Amino acid sequence: MNQNVKKILFGCILIFLMIQLIRPARNIDYGQLPSSDISKVYQIPEKIQSILRNSCYDCHSNSTDYPVYSYIQPLSFYLENHIQKGKKELNFNEWGHYSDRKQANKLESILNQIQQKKMPLPSYIYLHHGAKLSEKQIEEMASWIGRIQAENGKAK
Ligand code: HEC
Repeated sequence: MNQNVKKILFGCILIFLMIQLIRPARNIDYGQLPSSDISKVYQIPEKIQSILRNSCYDCHSNSTDYPVYSYIQPLSFYLENHIQKGKKELNFNEWGHYSDRKQANKLESILNQIQQKKMPLPSYIYLHHGAKLSEKQIEEMASWIGRIQAENGKAK
């Protein structure tokens, strides 16, 4: 092998090893499910509950179920960035602290995101095939959201 190629290769390996030392804080909450969790705010059917847990909570809650590859940089950066951004926009664990108006907006937004297949993020589905929502699950989510919207409408 050419001397320069060897040097570059060695440099790359070194950089790869060095970045492994960077360990971002993990999004893990060892406590119980908080009382502000969406499941404590509404009666959520088991089916819907498992869709949310399975496909959304990794990025939209205070506790991520980290896969093995997530410990490898630069994947770890990439993932952590999605978690921080996702949580900021929508945190199912904090639902109870949202105002009525914010809850209504987020419900509408959830419906749009899943119907347009923007959520869960495609890059996430690529690694978690099980997180992809089937047409049936999208319909189930839509009718559940519709029910809550109808109830809230009546309450006002
Ligand atoms: C891999 C991480 C990840 C997963 C899994 C994920 N999201 Fe997101 N979500 C994000 C990120 C990041 C954003 C911020 C906007 C963006 O970058 O697209 C976001 C934004 C959103 C928004 C927009 C919030 C707003 O106020 O407009 C909604 C709604 C949403 N996600 C719903 C969901 C639902 C429902 C699921 C599960 C079916 C889900 N997401 C799964 C990462 C994720």
